[in-house]
Amino acid sequence: MQLRGVRIAGVARHAPARIVTNEDFERWLDTSDEWITTRTGMKRRHWAADDEATSDLAIVAARGALARAGLRPDDIDCFVVATATPDYIFPATACIVAAKLGAVGKPAFDISIACSGFIYGLTVASGLVRSGVYRRVLLVGAETLSKITNKDDRSTAILFGDGAGAVVLEACDADADSFLSAELGADGSSPETLFQEAGGSRRPFDHAAVDAGLGYIQMEGREVFKFAVTSMVAATDVALAKAELTRHDINFLIPHQANRRIIDAAVRVLEVPPEKVLVNIQEYGNTSSASIPMALAEAVEAGRVQDGDVVLFVGFGAGLSWGAVVWRWSALRSVA
Ligand code: ACO
Repeated sequence: MQLRGVRIAGVARHAPARIVTNEDFERWLDTSDEWITTRTGMKRRHWAADDEATSDLAIVAARGALARAGLRPDDIDCFVVATATPDYIFPATACIVAAKLGAVGKPAFDISIACSGFIYGLTVASGLVRSGVYRRVLLVGAETLSKITNKDDRSTAILFGDGAGAVVLEACDADADSFLSAELGADGSSPETLFQEAGGSRRPFDHAAVDAGLGYIQMEGREVFKFAVTSMVAATDVALAKAELTRHDINFLIPHQANRRIIDAAVRVLEVPPEKVLVNIQEYGNTSSASIPMALAEAVEAGRVQDGDVVLFVGFGAGLSWGAVVWRWSALRSVA
């Protein structure tokens, strides 16, 4: 099969209006701004309204990415949503997003790999474009983690936020290909390290499950922390090697925003200067599969990534799972 190139034609982000600060938590939890700031780097996060679902956030980000690309929903051949907090267990949230954008009939599916969702999604969607299956794919990372977080559990309540980031991927000449390499991985031998226990087939929802709080995120924070740093560094090194590049070739790094200390530790090992790393965890907390595309949109809006830059996307999450994509940035079309 003749491979061609893929590029990002448009990128945008959206966060719901409600902002919850560290000080807000002090009102009902035994916690403090000082603890949250020093342990996580977070200051604020956005939470969706009661009547706001993941698809609602995804659609706003998707419309923004389409506008920046100068395209209409009709121009998209396939819709992909990476999310751990879909509107429903089924149908896929991507079907709802495509329909609400007015693209009924186009293929649409979700990717469920938690915080690694955008990295996996970028790999899969790029593959669809580069192999010639589709000319344009809309990929959205979107989450409403606040809906599955126990607000009375200080060890998780403070960590998660809601948001969406969208990219339009489109075919281009092979010699302008942005996709340089990917390294993905998963280890499902201990799913309970980070999971939502009830609601699936192993533990369907019933009153007892709800009463025991099994619909909420449960996490062994220290275990995740240790795994996060090593997996991000290892995935980066393998992805760079596949692209025949080294750590020093990274012009800009966009990590999953789970904890400032995790990012700092990984960046230290990788020897990437802090000014080449996008960190916005202070504003949004951990938005899971939305964190990397939201950060990319911010970097592009601020002019922090330049044409030709080698951009590294790297993340990890429930599964456990991890991944890195090496991407050569090409300027967006100048339509918006
Ligand atoms: N405020 C005050 N104290 C707290 C809070 C809080 N919000 N949360 C926990 N503590 C307490 C604990 O109870 C504990 O007290 P103890 O020593 O009396 O038992 C103490 O602080 C230390 O707890 P640790 O869990 O050891 O704190 P740590 O420094 O590890 O930070 C954290 C916890 C922030 C959760 C960290 O482990 C972390 O970020 N882990 C990774 C989380 C992550 O990346 N998740 C990714 C999710 S990705 C996805 O797929 C959804």
